[in-house]
Amino acid sequence: CRRIAILISGRGSNMVSLIEAARGADFPGEIALVLSNRPDAGGLERARAAGIEALAIDHKAYSTRESFEQALDAALRERAIDFICLAGFMRVLTSWFVGRWEGRMINIHPSLLPLFRGTHTHRRALEEGVLVHGCTVHFVVPELDAGPIVAQAAVPVVPGDTEDSLAVRVLAQEHLLYPQALRMICEGRARLDGGRVVFAEGWSADGAL
Ligand code: GAR
Repeated sequence: CRRIAILISGRGSNMVSLIEAARGADFPGEIALVLSNRPDAGGLERARAAGIEALAIDHKAYSTRESFEQALDAALRERAIDFICLAGFMRVLTSWFVGRWEGRMINIHPSLLPLFRGTHTHRRALEEGVLVHGCTVHFVVPELDAGPIVAQAAVPVVPGDTEDSLAVRVLAQEHLLYPQALRMICEGRARLDGGRVVFAEGWSADGAL
């Protein structure tokens, strides 16, 4: 994958970690576009400051999910994007869009999937009393947060943790994990095949840990 787009909805700290990693001379891809469904996303300015084209496609300007996604898809194809990274992109995508980018779109989720799909993952982890929590990079499939897993990182839950302290600990791991997972995929060391992730010899889903 040579040309990568990052889709965001907010501050874009994972986006920044991907941009920084992709600046490395040996990184097998370039961040060619940042797209937000929210015009006020802080990440847009951060992307522009890094010299990357940053575009807002406001979902509220479209009457249907499909027409919003058609605009998204057109912007991506106009720029010959090969691969999409969702990084705090908070719109659910239809099976039409997911199908068009099958095997070429990954997401980072703030839990050890398949635990805690959806939102408020840190709060729910604390409520359940798990002692190990973390984050997951996975290929995107139509079912929310259900795609084949590319990489995971675990963190301990410690006495006195709050939703915020746990989020900070997990986010630090997200920033390490996402660039490593993207690199694995760009180098063909992890790919989607028949609904499963196939790892190249010598690599596994915890190779990034
Ligand atoms: C990250 O923690 C990411 O894992 C999460 O949103 C945050 C975005 O932060 N994503 C989801 O919850 C997706 N359902 P960022 O904008 O600073 O990268």
